[in-house]
Amino acid sequence: MNDQNPTAPRPASSSSTAAGPGVVPEFAPAPPGELRRYAVVGTGHRAGMYVDAIVGEHADVATLVALLDTNPGRMDHYEGVVSQALGRPADLPQYAPDGLEKMIAEQAVDVVVVTAPDHAHAELVARALAAGADVVVEKPLTVDRPGCRRITGAVAETGRDVVMTFNYRYAPRNSSLRQVIASGEIGEVTSVHFEWALDTVHGADYFRRWHRDKKNSGGLVVHKSSHHFDLVNWWLGDVPARVYARGGLKFYGDRNAAERGLGSRPARGTGVVGDPFTLDLNADPRLKSLYLDAEEHDGYLRDQDVFGPGITIEDNLALLVDYRRGATLTYSLNAHSPWEGYRVTVNGTAGRAELEVVERGAIALDEDGNALLDPSATPTSLGDALRPEGERLLVQKHWQRATEHPIPDGIGGHGGGDAILLKDVFRRHLRVSEDALGRPAGYLDGLRAVSVGIAANQSLVTGLPVTIADLDLGAS
Ligand SMILES: NC(=O)c1ccc[n+]([C@@H]2O[C@H](COP(=O)([O-])OP(=O)(O)OC[C@H]3O[C@@H](n4cnc5c(N)ncnc54)[C@H](O)[C@@H]3O)[C@@H](O)[C@H]2O)c1
Repeated sequence: MNDQNPTAPRPASSSSTAAGPGVVPEFAPAPPGELRRYAVVGTGHRAGMYVDAIVGEHADVATLVALLDTNPGRMDHYEGVVSQALGRPADLPQYAPDGLEKMIAEQAVDVVVVTAPDHAHAELVARALAAGADVVVEKPLTVDRPGCRRITGAVAETGRDVVMTFNYRYAPRNSSLRQVIASGEIGEVTSVHFEWALDTVHGADYFRRWHRDKKNSGGLVVHKSSHHFDLVNWWLGDVPARVYARGGLKFYGDRNAAERGLGSRPARGTGVVGDPFTLDLNADPRLKSLYLDAEEHDGYLRDQDVFGPGITIEDNLALLVDYRRGATLTYSLNAHSPWEGYRVTVNGTAGRAELEVVERGAIALDEDGNALLDPSATPTSLGDALRPEGERLLVQKHWQRATEHPIPDGIGGHGGGDAILLKDVFRRHLRVSEDALGRPAGYLDGLRAVSVGIAANQSLVTGLPVTIADLDLGAS
């Protein structure tokens, strides 16, 4: 399944096909011939996961009827993918963004899947809803206050459905922590400490692409951290109220490179040998087809230098977040770590829970000095005994020893969450019972997740704490 960024760590759970007990919800069999008609809007990397799902596992409930993108080269890529899956030319109608309403009408689209860049989400979601389609939207819901207001307004006007695809909720390790907190084992939560480390392969990748411009992504505090803030909101069953943020661009970018005396740098990674900060688009056939071969249409470079000019996002972030019921979150994100993973500590009145995840213990270099992207670039292959890839959830109640809470296996990428999420996206109407963990998410969850990042961006500018209600995002 094309579910992972090629620069992301590829832990063993990505290839697991058998899920542990209680992880995959139960669905009724699909009534024959009832296919919902889907269009994919934004046909880049992430679109692949949805396209594969529609033509593969969920073909009995879904059919792909159109593609929309600014770049015809990338739509042609998926025309090829679907044709191969069907064993015949798919002949999918292709549209440009100004044809969204026309596409929905002409192709009788039931659901629009939005996998365009973050800054385009609000307009695409609002227009799709107004044109009579339901929406499945990738995180982050949007990047700023006007985007939030546009989406909440469109939902209020149309009453249509917006599914937020928060795949991290479906990773069994994150679901397990939710179970521990909801069971009351550690009492009422008083505080959470959450540290996320992105390494110099995956973390660096945000500084090569459209994400590097804050206007496009809201910065990592919106683009990436909205996953993490959603997790905390969901783990606690609470709503963030006030945010104080500090951070900056301290490692990547041309100024830092000059200060550290890095000398002249290649403008792009493709063709560069012996530089672990570069990405060669020829190294992965999908990267080549989606981006290098499509450059002629729009000039978009997917492999810009991480030490080049024009980067306006932070690579170090520290936040203090107050929740409505009184808990406090201390959060940090670092995007130039030598290993990748996260640590969460949840303090409660009856004890403490600690989740530790190592997704990639170290980055391996090939004999030329380029960073390896393939799955053998794992700590296992590096023989790393001190930081083995894996996950551990410890629970310790007052006056007791720590116990390890079992984490079942998942299926698919992103810690075993993607494939389970997809079942809920395409078969939610066939669920035999409500999700005990409350994993399915809607636009309000998306709004609450980005509200922290939007407030943080304001706090970064003013140096002051920001009360989320004062942002007037259109819902709370
Ligand atoms: N949940 C996850 O773990 C996860 C993982 C990866 C990406 N994503 C999300 O998916 C979205 C897409 O990310 P990606 O990595 O696929 O990016 P990408 O750059 O590979 O793809 C984006 C596509 O959108 C197209 N596009 C640009 N402007 C558009 C517009 N106005 N209308 C329609 N299409 C437009 C681009 O040409 C490109 O084909 C982002 O919002 C990202 O946050 C989520």
